Amino acid sequence: MLSTLLSLTLASPAPVDVDFLKDVYPILEANCIECHGPKKQKGDIRFDMREGLFEGDEDFIPIVPGKPDQSTVIELISLDADDPDLMPKKADKLSDADIATLRTWIEEGAAWEQPPVAEAKADPLALPELSEQQVAARDRALAACAKAGVRVNLIAENHHALEVNLSLSRGDGTDGQVTLLAGLEPMLVWANLAGTKLTDAGLSKLAGFGALRRLNLSGTAVTDAGLASLAKLGELRSLNLYGTRVTDAGLKHLASLPSLERLYLWGTDVTPEAAKVFQASHPAFKVNTGAELVVTEIASGAAINTECPITGKAVSAAFVVLVGDKKVGLCCAKCKAAFEADPGPHLVKLGLKDAGPVNDVCPVSGQPIAAGFTSKAGEDLVGFCCDKCKATFDAAPDKFLETLGLKKEAPELNALCPVSGKAVDAAVTSEYKGRSVAFCCGNCKKAFDADPDSFAEKLGDI
Ligand code: HEC
Repeated sequence: MLSTLLSLTLASPAPVDVDFLKDVYPILEANCIECHGPKKQKGDIRFDMREGLFEGDEDFIPIVPGKPDQSTVIELISLDADDPDLMPKKADKLSDADIATLRTWIEEGAAWEQPPVAEAKADPLALPELSEQQVAARDRALAACAKAGVRVNLIAENHHALEVNLSLSRGDGTDGQVTLLAGLEPMLVWANLAGTKLTDAGLSKLAGFGALRRLNLSGTAVTDAGLASLAKLGELRSLNLYGTRVTDAGLKHLASLPSLERLYLWGTDVTPEAAKVFQASHPAFKVNTGAELVVTEIASGAAINTECPITGKAVSAAFVVLVGDKKVGLCCAKCKAAFEADPGPHLVKLGLKDAGPVNDVCPVSGQPIAAGFTSKAGEDLVGFCCDKCKATFDAAPDKFLETLGLKKEAPELNALCPVSGKAVDAAVTSEYKGRSVAFCCGNCKKAFDADPDSFAEKLGDI
């Protein structure tokens, strides 16, 4: 009590007309909210909400308007610096000026206003703590994904937020891969399905993934109807529908998404008018300005390449494939189809994908390969299970090339032209009964092609 009186008399002159949000709340926010706020409510009291602050029994009412000396808050912040009950707990005593500000505020009637919700500053990846069951379900799902080669990654250290990127696996099984994610609902925040074979059926499996922040569906077969599955994704901030067959009707399903900030609609059948209406009806919609911007945001980015990765000819704007969020240009419809059928090698060429090891199984031990142990074999990368196997391979790579299927049969050519008997030009060849036959010149090749069988005898000994 003595110390309370002392601080009363020694306090610096109190500011007049104290404003809660401007003068008082910053003191509470800096010194008390950590233990009495959204994260923790020590002693069942929090200072970011009015509830409970002005109630209690005779010995304990945190704040009694007009009566600082009956307010427990003032009592506790005014204790001796070494008093174990001093608030803030485990921290330095508030300055005399801060204590005086709080006293004056209470003397003046303790007008309380709702401070801005702390969430505004919150970490965008912050997720609720996981229950034991959720952890177990997650671990089962991760094991199933790993087994199926579906890569799920932690987004950042110190977070349990996960991301999945299926955009570079172009197999038909996308819908099935999405099914494997069941169990990751509380912590899967990013999903990139761009360019995959995802259909509405697969998308429906994501309906319960309420933690999703970013979803990339560009270039997939999802339709207006499929977007209904997204209606409950309350955290969804970014949705990429670039290059899908979505129309104005599909936007209706997105109207209820409370957190949506970015929507990519270029290359869809959504009309600019409908995009504008959608944007206007969506106060949280922060895409720079105007529907045109939304609609053209991606369009303005040119293809990353100028030469077709297949033919080397100039690319055409009409033949573009979306890889992740990058546009790859091709020269014609045929190359586009070939690219889509097997993008892997072209992605490597375009620098969009690292050429990974050619093998899954260590050629030395027969165990699965592990990251970080590789050697070059010609153009190819070979993976190993451990450093020891890598060393064994490096000492005598030839021994293992056959196991790896990397031993390339050098095409054996005949040294002498079967028509003229002269030395051959290796560039002038014909196929004959499964082998290549070389000639000295184009004329001899012509003669051979006209009646190959008549040279068969000669070929026997070359
Ligand atoms: C490091 C954590 C921590 C901080 C920071 C903190 N408190 Fe507390 N506070 C507690 C704990 C724990 C209790 C529960 C009672 C106890 O253990 O003393 C508590 C209880 C209280 C109570 C209720 C006391 C009762 O009798 O139940 C008030 C009022 C209070 N704190 C005010 C404050 C004020 C004002 C600040 C900032 C100036 C603050 N606290 C900062 C941990 C903290």
